[in-house]
Amino acid sequence: MTDSTPTLTDGYARQLTYLRLSVTDVCNFRCNYCLPDGYLADNNCNNFLSLEEIHKISQAFALCGTKKIRITGGEPLLRKDLPQIIERCKSVEGIDTLALTTNAYSISKHLPKLVDAGLDQINISADSLQPENFQLITGHNKLDEVLSGLDMALERGLKKVKLNVVLMREYNRSELSDFLDFVRQRPIVLRFIELMETGDNKAFFKKQHVSGQEIRDELEQDGWLQVLREAHAGPALEFSHPDYAGNVGLIMPYSRNFCTNCNRLRVSSRGNLHLCLFGEEHHSLRPYILEESPQQLAKRIQHLVSFKKAEHGLHENNPGTTRHLAMLGG
Ligand code: 5AD
Ligand code: SF4
Repeated sequence: MTDSTPTLTDGYARQLTYLRLSVTDVCNFRCNYCLPDGYLADNNCNNFLSLEEIHKISQAFALCGTKKIRITGGEPLLRKDLPQIIERCKSVEGIDTLALTTNAYSISKHLPKLVDAGLDQINISADSLQPENFQLITGHNKLDEVLSGLDMALERGLKKVKLNVVLMREYNRSELSDFLDFVRQRPIVLRFIELMETGDNKAFFKKQHVSGQEIRDELEQDGWLQVLREAHAGPALEFSHPDYAGNVGLIMPYSRNFCTNCNRLRVSSRGNLHLCLFGEEHHSLRPYILEESPQQLAKRIQHLVSFKKAEHGLHENNPGTTRHLAMLGG
């Protein structure tokens, strides 16, 4: 990066080149660790960021050196204008990677339009490879659709396809070898995410949390080797194995120094800037988004970033004000 390239750098010298932008907090799934009682309000009456606002936010972040935007939710596929959102964000100068995190409930219907709009990467969640167990976790009998969507994403030539799996002691810990088999032939990244405690899932968390270290130990015993990290790669660890086409990622937010490599900021579907997934406070950008130029908005963001804290408080069982991750897209 040259000296003239602007960057968002916080007080701990972390370069924040990655924006996670939530476009709705509504979801049609009822994952037991996230929204066990569901949340299906009318997507159109919720005052979520408009296409214009999303475009302006992307421009402002790009002016600050953001290179990658991930669209998150809730469930982003519930936004009818998702292809337009992707197209607008991708068209912004400086944004070279456009990613999407989705539960993929009807992905095969939507994927061609999303790819045509400029989608580069997709993260699909599936916490079990057994249809009944998948239904138990999510409330929906959709595993076949989700997995065929994943294969379709590979066929369509997306640059990166990831399968997100939240580890849970009683629901999927015993499926580790099935998940590994799944990536034997598929060139995807299988990402095991440690269950994170939120305001709403405290009892569930206590019962179900599995340390990623447990998985790491098994992987290393089986000959998986850690891949060297790229600069600014973010907090996930990645492992590869000569017999497998896919890699395995581990997200271990309870491990020491997890936040040292933080490279991200989040904007919620209501236009709040969150400096941390588990922060105590957020900063509303909403009043300024349409009023200000991208340059003015960029200055505002640059100033706010100086308040980013060194690390989250999860070790002290403090998830901040985050009740569930659908609020912020994980
Ligand atoms: N802990 C860990 N991961 C979570 N996700 C949602 N809630 C939690 C939680 N409490 C995951 C989803 C999805 C990603 C966006 O975040 O399963 O993969
Ligand atoms: Fe919806 Fe994702 Fe939460 Fe599941 S984890 S309920 S798919 S937002």
